[in-house]
Amino acid sequence: MARLDRLLANLGYGSRREVTALVARGQVVLDGRPLKDSGAKIAVTADLPTRLLVAGQPIDPPAPLTLVMHKPLGVVCSHREAGRTVYELLPQRWRAREPGLSTIGRLDKDTSGLLLITDDGPFLHRVISPKAMIAKRYAATLARPLNGGEGATFAAGTLVLENEADPLAPAALEPLSETQARLTITEGRYHQVRRMFAAVGNHVEALHRDRIGGLDLPADLEPGDWRIATADELAAIFTA
Ligand code: URA
Repeated sequence: MARLDRLLANLGYGSRREVTALVARGQVVLDGRPLKDSGAKIAVTADLPTRLLVAGQPIDPPAPLTLVMHKPLGVVCSHREAGRTVYELLPQRWRAREPGLSTIGRLDKDTSGLLLITDDGPFLHRVISPKAMIAKRYAATLARPLNGGEGATFAAGTLVLENEADPLAPAALEPLSETQARLTITEGRYHQVRRMFAAVGNHVEALHRDRIGGLDLPADLEPGDWRIATADELAAIFTA
């Protein structure tokens, strides 16, 4: 059960005082009846977004919420970086949600593809935990042709990136053409894929993530599009 004013304030509909004013104006309706008490206790069931309306619109999905996004090029994953963030692709009200939404790992500004965004802290930690070894698959376009030795170097589990002490875990390379390859990694070190190709004398010109665990970037999501992840999609992450 959740207090109505706290529930709606946590979904970004305003402060608790503003939510109380919405209730007083009859703009919060449950099962067709305007609610009178902003302190009413509401059962937060899965069907609540279809039953509880604010200003005539179904409420946003309460936490826990996980999104699947096709991150476009040119937007950043962190508020600390300059530029437009992935959060700006979501409804404005969602920036005031509590708990807040965070990306599960990051993609560079110049990387596109599958990005998960969640307000579910335990779920986020399950996906990024090094112990979980969730595979992330990237398609890289390279400045120079592959020399044939990269696959063995990446698979060895001995490659040490510049300014790091610990070797990378083994990673799987699948050449797609002279200058294109899929690379599957289980870690998430800073700029990892770009730095791996730099370590073997190449340069990544374009990078796209198309899979996390057993979850593929949905074919119907255009760059910039996102939607709420289904239970099957969340489960697929852990089934690779
Ligand atoms: N590796 C990179 O270099 N960049 C990304 O965005 C993800 C992995």
